[in-house]
Amino acid sequence: MRYYGCKTKLLDFIEKSTKELDLYEGAKFFDVFTGTTAVAKHFKRLGYTVIANDNLEFCYALAKAYIELNEYPKFNKLKKVVVGHDGQNTHNKVINYLNAVEPIKGFIFQNYCPGGTKKLRTYFSDENGRKIDAIRTQVHEWKKSNLVTELEYYFLLTSLIEGVNLVSNIAGTYAACLKTWDKRALKPLIITPPEIIPSKRMNRALRMDANEAVEKISTDILYLDPPYNTRQFASNYFLLELIAEGWFDKEIKIDPKSKTGIYFDESKKSLYCQKAAAPEIFADLIRKAKARHILLSYNNEGIISEKHIQKTLSEKGELLRREQNHKRYRSINQTENDPNSVNERLYVVSVNGVKDRFNRLNGAKWLQHSFSIWRDTSKNAEELALHHPAIFPISLAERLIDIFTDKKDAVVLDPMVGSGSVVIAALKKGRKAVGVDLSKEYIQLAKKRMETHYKEFDDKKRYKLVVGDALDLHKYVEPNSVRLCVTSPPYWDILNEKRTADQKENINYSDSKKDLGNLSDYNQFLDSLKSVFSKVHESLQDNGFCAVIVMDIRKKSHFYPFHADLTNKLTDIGFKLRDIMIWDRQKEYNNLKPLGYPYSFIVNKVHEYILIFEKSNGQNK
Ligand SMILES: C[S@@+](CC[C@H](N)C(=O)[O-])C[C@H]1O[C@@H](n2cnc3c(N)ncnc32)[C@H](O)[C@@H]1O
Repeated sequence: MRYYGCKTKLLDFIEKSTKELDLYEGAKFFDVFTGTTAVAKHFKRLGYTVIANDNLEFCYALAKAYIELNEYPKFNKLKKVVVGHDGQNTHNKVINYLNAVEPIKGFIFQNYCPGGTKKLRTYFSDENGRKIDAIRTQVHEWKKSNLVTELEYYFLLTSLIEGVNLVSNIAGTYAACLKTWDKRALKPLIITPPEIIPSKRMNRALRMDANEAVEKISTDILYLDPPYNTRQFASNYFLLELIAEGWFDKEIKIDPKSKTGIYFDESKKSLYCQKAAAPEIFADLIRKAKARHILLSYNNEGIISEKHIQKTLSEKGELLRREQNHKRYRSINQTENDPNSVNERLYVVSVNGVKDRFNRLNGAKWLQHSFSIWRDTSKNAEELALHHPAIFPISLAERLIDIFTDKKDAVVLDPMVGSGSVVIAALKKGRKAVGVDLSKEYIQLAKKRMETHYKEFDDKKRYKLVVGDALDLHKYVEPNSVRLCVTSPPYWDILNEKRTADQKENINYSDSKKDLGNLSDYNQFLDSLKSVFSKVHESLQDNGFCAVIVMDIRKKSHFYPFHADLTNKLTDIGFKLRDIMIWDRQKEYNNLKPLGYPYSFIVNKVHEYILIFEKSNGQNK
């Protein structure tokens, strides 16, 4: 749509700045001055939860169709009315029905076409004016007799508004019509269905004053694109607004003396277009904003001074300013001396004092991950092919990273990294990682996996894989630097024994004396683990977490509650047990025997524990 201030050409510029904010999937994006909805549509496509607002009815109509509708409307009640009209879907049939309605000499024809009461008002050809009247009247009647839902009504209005804009005999805005006929205006009006953007989110359209809307809606990103100059949108686009509002059940008197017939509701005038009022109304909006980040588009020709903008925004939080030259909007008032380009600015504010999110999960994922039994994380083909004795899936580590880290630069540690799953998971999630292992072979394997199967994530600047003893962790990681440790220690020396559950042969990690899996004394083994986790404790940030994946152990008739014993050791160090999840691995065991049958009943253990510890004593709420 031809609309001044439309940001279609600046979408990449805006998107780039939002990417750096590192938000969660489905974060809220509130476009307060949405106009054509160009920006809102773009962010809806990117997967944000979008709210689009404008005080004009025709912009609201566009927002209802493009933002709120996530699928094409069904027109269930109109099905019978539009029988016989072309189109595979009912919405196409409805649109074609409207294209075929009998033209009438109505409000638009009388006031804005040369054949009407004023010869010089040449906004539309007579034919198109009569068609606009007929379509708009039909849509109104369907609405009045409840044959269309609210969203269906706005879907049809949007198709009419877009169609009308294409055949308007104007030089950009409706402030004046052209004296001669533009080629586009002579084409017959044909309306088409608006493109509906599919989305899983609850996107919404609002028609409110911007300053009231920002007070009501809290959001992750508040995008502000107010009018920059004194040209009122309500008057410059008055015809689109008249068509959206309709002329039914009310008296609209167009001044017969007026050349243009401009008619609009004075209450829709924007204070952002008034030099004296704009700075204060802008400051009021920023004060009221309930957002994590504020993005403001403005340019060097705007009526609010750069100084005022900078001062107002910096009071709210840390301010960043970007700029880009942009082709100037050509208006009818343009003079030869006007520059060809303007300097478009994007101000990005990270608002102070907003409580940090715990992670970037949306509500649905948060709920899904909060169930205490995890049975939907399984190994991928690459992992199965490794035949590692005790590997846990990358997807399990990814889930823990999703839950317990919030920022891209968060460091994830595994002091017994084995084949590298935790490091791979961290890199896949865009985090940094450190992996340590005693075994040179395992570190080589981890590196090889990274460089082959996970090459696209292999950014050497973001991870370290070291051959070393976990007891020397302080040599490889800074104290207080790690946000999350995910690890699975040896399950004592059971890898040196045969698996009771499925009788499979076991391969141990190594024969090294430093390998905790070779300590045959259970208490000595637990104490060594305690020493390793003391190092982990030192490496963690104060708000850090440690997830330990373990299984209980049975040796002959003796049962060792390893998860409980280890928990006691970790709490001795200062860790606080926060939660326990069960990792259900039953699906992986396909050769189970009735253990002890028929003389002694023994449980087949097909689950592991994911013990979640936090460093600080319960401060991570
Ligand atoms: C620069 S345009 C926005 C252009 C839009 N970003 C786009 O790409 O199409 C400014 C919009 O703000 C709306 N507006 C002006 N004052 C407003 C107010 N007080 N409350 C809500 N909307 C307002 C106008 O109707 C206009 O659509």
